[in-house]
Formats: sequence, C-alpha cells, structure tokens
Amino acid sequence: MLYFGTPVVLISSSNEDGSANLAPMSSAFWVGSSGMLGLDETSQTTLNLARTGECVLNLAHAGLVAAVDRLALLTGTPTVPDHKLRKGYRHEADKFGAAGLTPLPSDKVAPPRVAECLVHLEAVVNRMHPFGEPGSGVVAIDVQVVRVHVEQDLLMTGSNRYVDPDRWDPLIMKFLEFYGGGRNLHPSRLAQGWGVPRRAPVAES
Ligand SMILES: Cc1cc2nc3c(=O)[nH]c(=O)nc-3n(C[C@H](O)[C@H](O)[C@H](O)COP(=O)(O)O)c2cc1C
Repeated sequence: MLYFGTPVVLISSSNEDGSANLAPMSSAFWVGSSGMLGLDETSQTTLNLARTGECVLNLAHAGLVAAVDRLALLTGTPTVPDHKLRKGYRHEADKFGAAGLTPLPSDKVAPPRVAECLVHLEAVVNRMHPFGEPGSGVVAIDVQVVRVHVEQDLLMTGSNRYVDPDRWDPLIMKFLEFYGGGRNLHPSRLAQGWGVPRRAPVAES
C-alpha cells in the first residue's frame, strides 16, 4: 500500500435529484489554482462530477476526525457495488446528517460547503482521465478552483493571501489511519473495512 500521507478532503457534489452528496477522499494535490483528485469510478461523487462538472473541496482539519470517520463506510450510490459491500459499506442518502455536519451555500457552484471546515475550494471539472493500470477502476479528475474561502484566523497576520502554516492543522490520511500533528488521532473504520492489521503501540521514549 502506497498511502504515505495526504490531506483529507470532504468533497461535496450534487446528486441527480438536486440533493447534496458528501464523501471523504484523500488522493488529492494542487498546483497553482488546479487540483487533481483520484476517485473510484463507481463512487457517487465521481458520477456527480461527470454529470454536473461541479464540486466543493472542503479541507478537513484534525478536529473533524470523528465526523470524517462517520462517513468512512458510506456511499451515496443507491446500489452499493460488490467491492464496497465486501468492505462493509452501506448506502446513505443524507451524508451531512450522518456526519453531523452543516451545509452552507456556495458562491459559484451548486453543491454546498461544509460549515465546520475552515477552508472551502469551489471547483469545476476541467477533464477526467483514466488512472493507473487498465481496469484499476480509478479516475483522475482535474479541477479548476473558482472560489477560495479561508477562515480569517488561518491567515498570516496582516495578509489576506497567505495561510500561516502554523495555524493550519490538516487531517492526514496515512496508510488508511487518521493523523494530525504527527499523531494517530482516532480509530479508522476505513482501515478496518480494508482489513489493515492493528499495529502494536509505539513505546514513548
Ligand atoms: C479518509 C478517507 C479518505 C478516502 N480517500 C479516498 C480517495 O482518495 N479516493 C477514493 O476514491 N475514495 C476514497 N475514500 C473512500 C470514499 O470515501 C468512498 O469510496 C465513498 O463511498 C465515496 O462516497 P460516494 O460513493 O458517496 O461518493 C476515502 C475514505 C476516507 C474515510
């Protein structure tokens, strides 16, 4: 497994009936004002992005770990695909409710933001590409950020352009476990679903 550590994003998108879907993901990076997202092609989020071309990337801070974990084994897809059923996933239409998170209207796209997140990136899809070996079932989605919202407290004093890295405490997904500030924060349903062995605690020196 090559999940060495990436930030957790709660991605909101619009379902066919106009309701909101919300899903945790962490195969994400940004260059300039573009982002690249690695998503399972069967996920409701992927289907929504292909159909509507819009999403919000709500960046999760370490304090949201319990809410993220509540979403871990849920899908907005009404017919849960076999590979997810085997890991213990179930369908959930109300992901905001299931997570205990609050929808907040966006400025430029239809899917709502997550009020509890301190950073929201409203985005539109540039292109979708197949990713990995043939049959991997993963797509790489190239998105353009069209509006950035950052909580004022995260900005460097006297700046409206630069986030102070000391003030931003991202939730990190590392080998399917939750980390913040270099520490394991919370048990992970995702790691359980994938059958990752629990490791022995590291002795404090
Ligand atoms: C912390 C975390 C990170 C995840 N990262 C990804 C990811 O990068 N790509 C992906 O396809 N699924 C990822 N997942 C799994 C999705 O959340 C899962 O496929 C979910 O069912 C998608 O929801 P949807 O079908 O409603 O879109 C992650 C799950 C968790 C809990």
